[in-house]
Amino acid sequence: MAGGRKNKRKKIAEVNTLPNVFQCPEYHETQLYDASGQRLDLKGHWNELVFKNNNPITLELACGKGDYTVALAARYPDRNFIGVDIKGPRIHAGAKHAVEQGLHNVAFARIKIQNILNFFGTGEIDEIWITFPDPYPKDRHEKHRLTYKEFLAKYEQVLKPGGVVNFKMDDMDMFHYTRDSALAYGCEMLYYQEDIYSAPLEREELSIKTFYEKQHIADGRTINYLRFRFKS
Ligand SMILES: C[S@@+](CC[C@H](N)C(=O)[O-])C[C@H]1O[C@@H](n2cnc3c(N)ncnc32)[C@H](O)[C@@H]1O
Repeated sequence: MAGGRKNKRKKIAEVNTLPNVFQCPEYHETQLYDASGQRLDLKGHWNELVFKNNNPITLELACGKGDYTVALAARYPDRNFIGVDIKGPRIHAGAKHAVEQGLHNVAFARIKIQNILNFFGTGEIDEIWITFPDPYPKDRHEKHRLTYKEFLAKYEQVLKPGGVVNFKMDDMDMFHYTRDSALAYGCEMLYYQEDIYSAPLEREELSIKTFYEKQHIADGRTINYLRFRFKS
């Protein structure tokens, strides 16, 4: 227990020094801080100030250890990837891997997803991935689900017109909820597959397995994937 706490403190201290991590220490703030403590207004300027190119940006929301962010970045050097999570010790893993692999197309933002409009400009994002978010099964917690209509409205704003959302999930209730929420919002369902590993994968990158996905597979749970786009 004490070792776990010490390890967590070590990760927090280290994540503060990583050059690809941008953090918002106070939830009400609208600017991010880099490892040197410099305050940056990155909203609408991620490519100019962080990546120094004009490549399309993918956001991985609730990225945890950033498994998709890092694996996709290695596959697609001509695209930029930003992992978003509120927990520093989780981001630590992905940010460190990206540094060790010399991936310059990776960044992490330690922010609350509720606040993404403070940190990303209208149409700044090309694509979103959400993998294994907390399902919040109780009806009264619906508004915390990352595919609740209020979240979808924020995703629609930061995405370019026609930008897509990829969603991978074990929990069937949350998977069906996401399908229904996206359709009720007016999105177009581009792909829908339950139990993806029971058939050849539609896209190679679906084989990337996140930290939580590996645990769900070990527990015998099936993995499901859907992709939708906003019609605006
Ligand atoms: C179940 S884990 C999944 C992590 C990762 N996607 C995976 O598959 O391994 C959910 C993650 O969402 C993050 N999270 C939950 N609510 C969040 C919020 N409102 N803003 C930012 N991160 C959030 C948690 O910190 C946690 O890392």
